[in-house]
Amino acid sequence: MIQAGIIGATGYTGIELYRLLRSHPAVQIAWLTSENSAGQRLSDLFPCPWDEPLLAMADAPLAEADVVFLCLPHAASMPAVAAVRAAGVKAIDLSADFRLHDAATYQRWYQTPHSQPALLAEAVYGLPELHRAEIAGAGLVANPGCYPTSVILGLTPLARAGWLAGQVIADSKSGVSGAGRKPSLTTSFVEANENLSPYSIGYSHRHIAEMEQELKAEGGTMNDERQKLQIVFSPHLLPVSRGILSTLYVTLPDSVDEAAVRAAYNDAYRGEPFVHLLPAGKVATLQHVVHSNRCAIGLTFVPNSPTLIVTSSIDNLLKGASGQAVQNMNVLFGLAETMGLRNT
Ligand SMILES: NC(=O)c1ccc[n+]([C@@H]2O[C@H](COP(=O)([O-])OP(=O)(O)OC[C@H]3O[C@@H](n4cnc5c(N)ncnc54)[C@H](OP(=O)(O)O)[C@@H]3O)[C@@H](O)[C@H]2O)c1
Repeated sequence: MIQAGIIGATGYTGIELYRLLRSHPAVQIAWLTSENSAGQRLSDLFPCPWDEPLLAMADAPLAEADVVFLCLPHAASMPAVAAVRAAGVKAIDLSADFRLHDAATYQRWYQTPHSQPALLAEAVYGLPELHRAEIAGAGLVANPGCYPTSVILGLTPLARAGWLAGQVIADSKSGVSGAGRKPSLTTSFVEANENLSPYSIGYSHRHIAEMEQELKAEGGTMNDERQKLQIVFSPHLLPVSRGILSTLYVTLPDSVDEAAVRAAYNDAYRGEPFVHLLPAGKVATLQHVVHSNRCAIGLTFVPNSPTLIVTSSIDNLLKGASGQAVQNMNVLFGLAETMGLRNT
């Protein structure tokens, strides 16, 4: 059995991981950590029957685990990942700290220096549909962000075909669990309920960096400065508990028709267990994916126009976080990629 530790088990991604791992047939939970609730049990914090104790990170026997999942806010994760790797244990980090390949880019978007630049070199961006082979041999997997998972999977076939250039508009809506369990005014019931609020619009949200990094690497760039890929990303807070829907507006080259685009998506995702390509006439919705590890993708063509509208939906806590982390663990340990996720 694979021994798994979870650092930051008391947050939304941490408890979701615990739920998935406790019923995973090849995994045993080694230990869970919390700083604020060390000494308490999971059932003290969540309405659940599980009496698993919570340890402070400093007391967690890191080396007893085969893999450690880190579910901490960005910046807090850097030293914790370093400690896990120093103990010789594989790490799957759900924060943004190891997703960007370049320390200067991290500092620019996250306004804090990267304290572990040497570890960036070994980190693999953990989107199995793009990087399965590198993940299999990795010591450190940087689990993608939730919005980026929906946008990157929605656009990758176009990038690979060389059809993604210039400005692409990504209009995304996320359920409130995307902001984590820590209370805040904007996510409080009265502020969020029956409301729909854009935030961090105007090319300012941090997730843009990983969207552009990955899509450019897949081919979504051009030498001509005017044609360089730019994701104009507008996130919104939607008053549901979970789920992300990204509606992506792309201008296709004149020579590309619907049949060619559909063929590119079919080729890119043939055999992918967690990508659900919808038939013509269907659009992705939250109900396609909530409580599942799937990404649903729909393609809508605007008649007599080069505009393609891609709808891409995921559950932010599953394919956008903890489900994807389990998928990555399955790849890391050579297990069937769907193990522990088949029914989600
Ligand atoms: N929520 C999502 O949909 C989602 C999706 C993709 C990625 N992520 C990323 O995953 C990470 C966790 O997100 P979340 O939504 O689970 O957050 P969360 O609900 O706010 O939970 C954060 C966890 O981190 C711990 N923590 C907070 N500050 C800490 C610090 N300075 N040092 C050590 N531990 C600390 C908390 O532990 P105690 O309070 O118990 O000490 C708690 O267990 C974040 O980096 C987030 O960006 C989240």
